[in-house]
Amino acid sequence: MKKILITGGAGFIGAHVVKHFVKEYSEHQIINLDCLTYAAEPKNLSDIESLENYKFLELNINNAKDVDDVFKKYEISHVIHLAAESHVDRSIDNSIDFALTNVIGTVNLLNAAKNNWIGKRDHLFYHISTDEVYGSLGLNGSFKETTKYDPKSPYSASKASSDHFVRSYFNTHNLPVVISNCSNNYGPYQNEEKFIPTVIKSLIDRRPIPIYGKGKNIRDWLYVHDHVLAIEKIFNNGSIGETYNVGGGYEISNLDLVYKIIEMYVDLYPNKFNYNDLISFVDDRKGHDFRYSIDSSKIQSELDWSPKMKFEEGIKNILGALGESEEVYEEEIIDKATAISGSGPGYIFYFMESMLKSCKEIGIDENLSKKLIIKTFLGSAELAKFSEKNFEELKKEVTSPNGTTEAGLKTMADNNLGNAIILGIKSAYKRARELNND
Ligand SMILES: NC(=O)c1ccc[n+]([C@@H]2O[C@H](COP(=O)([O-])OP(=O)(O)OC[C@H]3O[C@@H](n4cnc5c(N)ncnc54)[C@H](O)[C@@H]3O)[C@@H](O)[C@H]2O)c1
Repeated sequence: MKKILITGGAGFIGAHVVKHFVKEYSEHQIINLDCLTYAAEPKNLSDIESLENYKFLELNINNAKDVDDVFKKYEISHVIHLAAESHVDRSIDNSIDFALTNVIGTVNLLNAAKNNWIGKRDHLFYHISTDEVYGSLGLNGSFKETTKYDPKSPYSASKASSDHFVRSYFNTHNLPVVISNCSNNYGPYQNEEKFIPTVIKSLIDRRPIPIYGKGKNIRDWLYVHDHVLAIEKIFNNGSIGETYNVGGGYEISNLDLVYKIIEMYVDLYPNKFNYNDLISFVDDRKGHDFRYSIDSSKIQSELDWSPKMKFEEGIKNILGALGESEEVYEEEIIDKATAISGSGPGYIFYFMESMLKSCKEIGIDENLSKKLIIKTFLGSAELAKFSEKNFEELKKEVTSPNGTTEAGLKTMADNNLGNAIILGIKSAYKRARELNND
């Protein structure tokens, strides 16, 4: 049995890696070590937390003794090291945490492996890194594994340093290591401070979409699950001491990316609002790398990996999931907030419940009717056009014995009430939480 320590498993990529390994390798023990910074979201792991081959440890890799104790207590045989401070903008404001976690934390793990793995050649220290260590490209060319390191931001400098330490432990101590350098990931669970979640959140809230400079910087994007599959291939079959570049093969400028997401968002949640007006150019990031491009031919030919998810499909998955999460949101609201029905936002619960009831009466499946309602909430327009009066009329129509749900939905769309309703729901939800001291 392998005892696999995954660091940073409550973060964006880490959570996907942990879940995949726990589910696919029930014969191995998976130990997730994470100190739960702002970037962690433990609830993303709730579906595996009771599984026998999974254990979570809330610990900081900056503490050498704690790390060494974990290696001893759990007889760690393999490491997949993802824990890091990962946001470039934060590294510009405060580099210390990046030096501590990304460099010192990595060295602590390397030392624990070195000291506890004497004579073990079947063990593995797998270090996950970024393509940003290679610096910035012009319009042509791609990063190869042999490209000279030229990090430009404190984040990439700290990751480059950690890569060098990992290689040095291979050369000096014969530690069995492997490294991969990956391009920008996107997908479910990503923290809102990162670019694609920021764009999507801005569309939902209809607030400015901040774009650095003129939006001409080019990034290569990889769907997170394809990264997980690359990690699995490297973990199982990568050659010791080697580096593998992993990229999505999908390059796009930041501005074109925003246009694309807007187009897809409106396709999914049709409405008349002009989202392009939200685009807002802000001062360029200091030391902003112009272009990243990854040559993944080594992992493709040696380990038979290639990215499977088409960019449009990946984005569609994230946008489609918005409807789902609003559905959960709504259920929580109805459960917790009936206490305040009768007051302003209380109409909304009455309204929503009536809508659901009407749907049921005319035989529409509950899940589908919820999705329809949510989609309408997200897809309608202006709060300014909302008035108590037409809301009352609408409620009457929807809940009257002769009213049909479809007519109700149409009236709601025609009267541009969706935004008002979703805002009402949000404020009512807040009030309900306050009432419940929750
Ligand atoms: N996100 C990307 O696009 C991308 C691309 C290439 C490489 N990477 C690398 O992949 C790894 C994971 O990236 P991510 O985007 O999932 O990061 P993330 O910021 O979402 O998650 C990092 C996780 O590490 C944990 N952590 C931070 N400091 C810690 C410490 N001192 N001790 C223990 N846990 C700590 C955090 O709590 C969090 O759960 C990082 O090493 C990053 O450099 C990320």
